[in-house]
Formats: sequence, C-alpha cells, structure tokens
Amino acid sequence: MEQTFIMIKPDGVQRNLVGEIIGRFEKKGFTLKGLKLITVDSDFAERHYADLSAKPFFNGLVEYIVSGPVVAMVWEGKNVVATGRKIIGATNPAESAPGTIRGDYAVDIGRNVIHGSDAVESARKEIALWFPEGIAEWRSSAHHWIYE
Ligand code: GTP
Ligand code: MG
Repeated sequence: MEQTFIMIKPDGVQRNLVGEIIGRFEKKGFTLKGLKLITVDSDFAERHYADLSAKPFFNGLVEYIVSGPVVAMVWEGKNVVATGRKIIGATNPAESAPGTIRGDYAVDIGRNVIHGSDAVESARKEIALWFPEGIAEWRSSAHHWIYE
C-alpha cells in the first residue's frame, strides 16, 4: 500500500505537538510503519531539501531543520501522500485552513511544524534517506474496519 514520509520539525517537537500530530494520522485510519526521534546535521538536511537549494530561504530552512530533534515517520494507507498533505495544510500557515495541522498550530512559513512528502516518488526517496535501516512489517488488526 502507499506510504509517505512525515516529519515533525524541531518547532513541533519543542512545542509538545508530537502526540497531537501522531493522533491525527492515527485517528484518520493510517498505519504507523516507522518512527524515530533524530537530530540531523546540515549535510543531511541539505539532501532532504535538495530540490530547494536555489531558493533564497534555503540556508535558513537548513538551520531550522538542524536546530533540534525531529520526529521522522512513515505512514501507510490508501492515498496517504495526498491525504497527508491535506491533513498538514498549505505551506504558508497564513493560508492553511483551520482544522489542518498548520492551520491550527502555526503562524510563520519558516516555522510550519511539519513536513509531508509531495508525491509518491518523493516519498519513496525520502523514506530511503531517513530509514536506511528499513521499517516495520506489520498490518493493523483494524484494517478491515477501515477498508471495504
Ligand atoms: P515541506 O512539507 O516542509 O516540504 O513543505 P511544503 O512541501 O509545503 O513546501 P516546500 O517543499 O515548497 O518548502 C519546504 C519548506 O521550506 C516549507 O515547509 C517551509 O518551511 C520552507 N519555505 C517554503 N517557502 C518558504 C518561503 O517563502 N520562506 C521561508 N522562510 N520558508 C519557506
Ligand atoms: Mg515540500
């Protein structure tokens, strides 16, 4: 089934939003397949955001991501990449709808609490980058209560 890479950024960890954010994905019906608290260095953050290296905010973005521990996760489910982005909300919290994570918990675009893969292919690359050790093999016993 489809998988996505979700990361609670350093501000989300420092602001004690980890349980709230995990709860939203759990309650939706998605399955947690990988989870770790990790502090990354600049080289790693630059690899994760390589597509944005030409942007004027790139250095600030990398400094933000290395500024404290993040919670790296793999979530699985039908359409989890696109639906995960909807749960997260628009990049700029000024435009994220209430009810989304960024809409409810963030103010500034440079402190927007959470990352989610933007496509199935980028999810695959990000999961390989963040979980080279692999992820859990399990199937939720709630599966048939969530899928027809
Ligand atoms: P991610 O899930 O973190 O990848 O966000 P996104 O896919 O919604 O946006 P994008 O990949 O374009 O940008 C990555 C991150 O860079 C954003 O989440 C912001 O934290 C930051 N960012 C994007 N645009 C700006 C900007 O104009 N100014 C600043 N300061 N940060 C930005
Ligand atoms: Mg992105």
